[in-house]
Amino acid sequence: MISSTIETGSPVELGPVVFSEDAIAGAVARIAGQLKVEFDGQPIHMVAILKGALLFSADLMRALGEYPVTIDFMVVSSYGTGRSGKADVRLLKDLDQSPSGKNVVLVEDIIDEGYTLSYLLANMRSRRPLRVQSCALIDKPFHRAVNVKPDYVGLQAPDDAFLVGYGLDFQERFRNLPHIRQLQSRVLK
Ligand code: IMP
Ligand code: MG
Repeated sequence: MISSTIETGSPVELGPVVFSEDAIAGAVARIAGQLKVEFDGQPIHMVAILKGALLFSADLMRALGEYPVTIDFMVVSSYGTGRSGKADVRLLKDLDQSPSGKNVVLVEDIIDEGYTLSYLLANMRSRRPLRVQSCALIDKPFHRAVNVKPDYVGLQAPDDAFLVGYGLDFQERFRNLPHIRQLQSRVLK
């Protein structure tokens, strides 16, 4: 068991595995299959939201195989949200290419309160893409504050735990885990 103390002084321990590597791979393959059917051969322009969707977007584009896919990235920080009752989503890095006229698929790690996805959908729609859809590896609906729902969801969070691994962090740690685990101590993002 890995155990450490982060600046706050609160001890942080990794808890049980919530989603195994196999479960994640299955979810990724299923979303790739749904996207192929939905877009029916038309090129997909993935917009991956970093850093959380780093591993998910890489595996999703690989699962799309020979399907025509391009990718771009945005970095957002949702610091300042998290049950504080305030939507404070900041754009830290914008797209390299205009999404205008493209079939945009936003690729997110986890939807919690919904502020981040709702900001991203509004931002993307204002740039006149052909279509905008969104997918999230994990839906965590327990504290949804904005009425927003991704078009494709990989995995449903079984309970209101803080999850780490496969891109998801706690204070920038644990993104490298190949599976998704619960954080043992009760912490907020
Ligand atoms: P929202 O705006 O509340 O939906 O926040 C979504 C963002 O919060 C995600 O993209 C993550 O960066 C972060 N987040 C929410 N829940 C978790 C979690 O359980 N583990 C790690 N990050 C989380
Ligand atoms: Mg985060």
